[in-house]
Amino acid sequence: MITIKSPREIETMAEGGRIVGRTLALLGGEVRAGVSTAALDRIAEDFIRSHPGARPSFKGLYDYPATLCTSINHEVVHGIPSKRRVLKDGDLLSVDVGVWIDGLHADAAASFAVTEASPDVARLLAVTQQALAAGIGEAREGNHVGDIGHAVQEVAEGAGYSVVREMVGHGIGASFHEDPQVPNYGTPRRGPRLVAGMTIAIEPMVNVGRPEVRTLEDRWTVVTEDGSLSAHFEHTVAIGANGDAPRILTLPD
Ligand code: MF3
Ligand code: CO
Repeated sequence: MITIKSPREIETMAEGGRIVGRTLALLGGEVRAGVSTAALDRIAEDFIRSHPGARPSFKGLYDYPATLCTSINHEVVHGIPSKRRVLKDGDLLSVDVGVWIDGLHADAAASFAVTEASPDVARLLAVTQQALAAGIGEAREGNHVGDIGHAVQEVAEGAGYSVVREMVGHGIGASFHEDPQVPNYGTPRRGPRLVAGMTIAIEPMVNVGRPEVRTLEDRWTVVTEDGSLSAHFEHTVAIGANGDAPRILTLPD
């Protein structure tokens, strides 16, 4: 079921979303060689809980054990933070985080180069961010979910990369995953129509190589089948009225 949020509910999601955006900004300053993904998780959880009423969305969701998903290099999403996973120069780290406050969730992700980005990593990060921006640009009342996916896919595939199909963006609100599903591929004018007050998470996962992924034996970590690098950027947005641009709810300010 697609839920339409009231202006008040959107303000609440913006409050949680601001904490999400600030968490990612904070982590961006902590990403360096020698830091473990468990250390980043601790920083994020402490920061989120320092806001009265806020808590991490992921901890306990489907029994997930942590505040962040931290996915390195060919890991696409859902990497579990660990003391044994220590960042190295040249790594690509994708961080996904959600915050719950006053009964509503907000969700975002960003990918970082560990200190100095190689040309390959820099281009993948730039293209994946452009793909997200293109998808957000189509998130307008009167458009369809397929317009978002099509825009994301055009940017990613136009750059010679591929988009992951097994995992998709999603509606978000009182439940972390709500309808509609928001694939990172699609056909213009197809799929559910976008209506003012819908809140959706748009989250391209872009692989340098082939689109196929598989899940490791830990039953969480999703990796590219061909071992190629993958990046992930995500924002939660609220669809505006009259075809206006959406409000991005997960910015730091
Ligand atoms: N952020 C992921 C998504 O957008 C959800 C992580 S689910 C968890 O769908 F269980 F890992 F927390
Ligand atoms: Co999401």
